[in-house]
Amino acid sequence: MSRTSYIELSRSRLKNNIDYVKSYINKNCRYVMVIKGNAYGHGIQDLVPVIEECGVDYFAVFSAAEAEQALSVKKKSCDMMIMGFLDKEHIPWAIENGISYYVFTLSRLKESIKSAKELKQKAKIHIEVESGMNRTGFRSTDFDELIQLLKENKSHLQIEGICTHLAGAESITNYDRIQDQIDLYHEIVDYFRENGINPTYRHIACSAGVLNYPETQLDLVRVGISNYGYWPSNELRMRKLLAQKDFIDPLQAVLSWKSKVMSISNIPEGEYISYGKSYLTNRDSKVASVPVGYGYGFSRDLSNLGRVLINEKRVSVVGVVNMNMMLVDVTDLPNVKEGDEVVLIGRQGDLEITVSSFSDMNNSLNYELLTRLPHDIPRIVVE
Ligand SMILES: Cc1ncc(COP(=O)(O)O)c(C=O)c1O
Repeated sequence: MSRTSYIELSRSRLKNNIDYVKSYINKNCRYVMVIKGNAYGHGIQDLVPVIEECGVDYFAVFSAAEAEQALSVKKKSCDMMIMGFLDKEHIPWAIENGISYYVFTLSRLKESIKSAKELKQKAKIHIEVESGMNRTGFRSTDFDELIQLLKENKSHLQIEGICTHLAGAESITNYDRIQDQIDLYHEIVDYFRENGINPTYRHIACSAGVLNYPETQLDLVRVGISNYGYWPSNELRMRKLLAQKDFIDPLQAVLSWKSKVMSISNIPEGEYISYGKSYLTNRDSKVASVPVGYGYGFSRDLSNLGRVLINEKRVSVVGVVNMNMMLVDVTDLPNVKEGDEVVLIGRQGDLEITVSSFSDMNNSLNYELLTRLPHDIPRIVVE
């Protein structure tokens, strides 16, 4: 191991999760797996071929840079959409590579028409409409000009979708806001259809849409977090588990993150550990250093709070997490030695450190912790 830690990606767990989410979906609804944020930290280039083996043939990324990464490893027959950032310089590249993309400004639409004309190739676009999230999307004030441009340039455009994004479908507290979004979206689609604009796919559902609001499953769904084995919220997880007889979580975390014990020291009672004075030993202690710190994605917020697994036991982070290493209290592990496996996320024996347990400790989201995992940690695909 030349790097200080590595990430394992489980093929069978990924397949399990995709099959579980697909079990909610009609056969004629297209399944798009969202792989933005470096495939939620799992690694786009390592994971895309494995996702394809699990039967997915449409990917969604945020930017042209991510699309470029996916393009270098995906099968030609798989489709791809860019849901966010696309410089006007990259529009011809997207068109030539058959990549569809969101259009949420008139300037991007006009650039697309110009490039499509020059290339003599249709631009495949998803018209994003604003339904209440107030992030990106056309508002009704743009509709007249938008529809006119779409109609006038029919021969240069393929309207792959009309879409919107739900603002918090993972929590029941947003119920009324989500219902309003669904209603408004359908009104907008009707309006576009009445004006002769008929998209191939109507799409609004993310993981929480699919799992919580079956009516949001239209012609296509864009599913992210659940594929990787996480629930969009604890509330949704508990609701699904309570509805099952066996209470076994159907989603399984695809990712594990592991390192090794670098060194072990004996520290007498009454000594401070690491920078500052945040941790004072209350007994003669044995402390192991682990070569992973905040510079590698293990948040400094987990100082004196985080836990890792060593020798099939849960042990605590002591003192502040440093840039490149952390210290853990191994006083109660009689056989611990240099080189022993350290599990930062994942299983060892009967124990597991989950990403959500991190989130509980430092108030971050699953999404946030995963996407902060550095790109250069080696990823290894395991069964
Ligand atoms: C436009 C869009 N669609 C779909 C998704 C996938 O969401 P989730 O990971 O909750 O399934 C996201 C993620 O934030 C998104 O921004």
